[in-house]
Amino acid sequence: MIDIEALLTDRLQAMEPSGIRRVFEMAAKMKEPINFSIGQPDFDVPEPIKRAAIDAISAGRNGYTVTQGIPELRSAIAAKLSPEIGWEIGPNAECDVLITNGTSAGLMLAYLALGQKGDEIIIPDPYFVSYPQVAAVVGATAKYCDTYPDCRMTAARIEPLITERTKFVVLNSPGNPSGVVLSSDELRDIVELCESRGVLLVSDEIYDEFTYGDGRESGVFPTPGRFSNQLLILRGFSKTYGMTGWRLGFAVGPTRLIREMTKVNQYSFVCAPNMVQHAGVVALQTDVSAHVKAYERKRDMVVEALGGVTELARPTGAFYAFPQVPPRLGLTGDEFFRKALDKNVLVIPGNIFSTRDTHFRISYAVDDARLARGLEALASLMR
Ligand SMILES: Cc1ncc(COP(=O)(O)O)c(C=O)c1O
Repeated sequence: MIDIEALLTDRLQAMEPSGIRRVFEMAAKMKEPINFSIGQPDFDVPEPIKRAAIDAISAGRNGYTVTQGIPELRSAIAAKLSPEIGWEIGPNAECDVLITNGTSAGLMLAYLALGQKGDEIIIPDPYFVSYPQVAAVVGATAKYCDTYPDCRMTAARIEPLITERTKFVVLNSPGNPSGVVLSSDELRDIVELCESRGVLLVSDEIYDEFTYGDGRESGVFPTPGRFSNQLLILRGFSKTYGMTGWRLGFAVGPTRLIREMTKVNQYSFVCAPNMVQHAGVVALQTDVSAHVKAYERKRDMVVEALGGVTELARPTGAFYAFPQVPPRLGLTGDEFFRKALDKNVLVIPGNIFSTRDTHFRISYAVDDARLARGLEALASLMR
């Protein structure tokens, strides 16, 4: 009899199963809940993208691809990004692209390439759930940058956390769980801080397309990539094109780092699915602005319904809001989550995204009628 327990690594002790799963299990037991817990768009993959994947399968594009990703997709990404951030991107340039199995794989590869025991990684608090857990995988320590109450990870908040052990800072704008988008000025300050301290910036921009009019500046998405090419940008197709199950993303950054991440990819994920990479080329030409407009309108509904009853950092991107549980209620985020369950509304308690338990996350990627009903129920709980 093998004692599995005795075989498990120390790093697993530091890792926790995702709390979101507990929420999903509860949802499965509820009868038609108003579900504000889902972190994915409520639209299906656009037809031309589906067609491209089907055509790729039919044309026999079913084998492995090169580890770095098919050249057509790499050049399409370079062609889209270069004008936006001003970097020269390609195999012979200072910066290059690696196609990843979703942004999650991009994060994992970056952590594996850069983090090890004794290293510190600065992450925002509140954070996307993977940031601290993946640090545990590589044996590094996550340092939490407290961004309450406005959920803005600024240079002034990051600076005191940098030590000689800091390897990189993870930035996420538009942010999950807050939907907050940082300004160009804030991003420039962070870039300058990281460069002056020799710390790499890893910018998770998975919600880049879901940045509303008031999150953009002169219509342009604010990215730290506009200020330097000495950083790693991670983006994905999951949210933008409703392709969460297709597993496609990419990393763009210094060629030396991309080469090392590609090496790790070769022995782990191997390659993103062949037909999905071909569909990715078509996805990059697909206009999702109508969906973004719809989410912007839903955001307005959220701010209107909840802004007056509690503290809420105004979301200008993604499809999340992260309201505080009004302190006068004397409830933790988890207790409020349970009260909302009694009203048949499913939110996610803030402690899943934070060292604090004072807020809750709603995903407003749901139809208007449900959104209105759910918001009214939440507002009445908080009044
Ligand atoms: C901020 C953030 N980064 C990364 C991911 C992972 O996305 P992917 O499906 O591309 O792995 C998510 C998914 O929720 C996210 O919210």
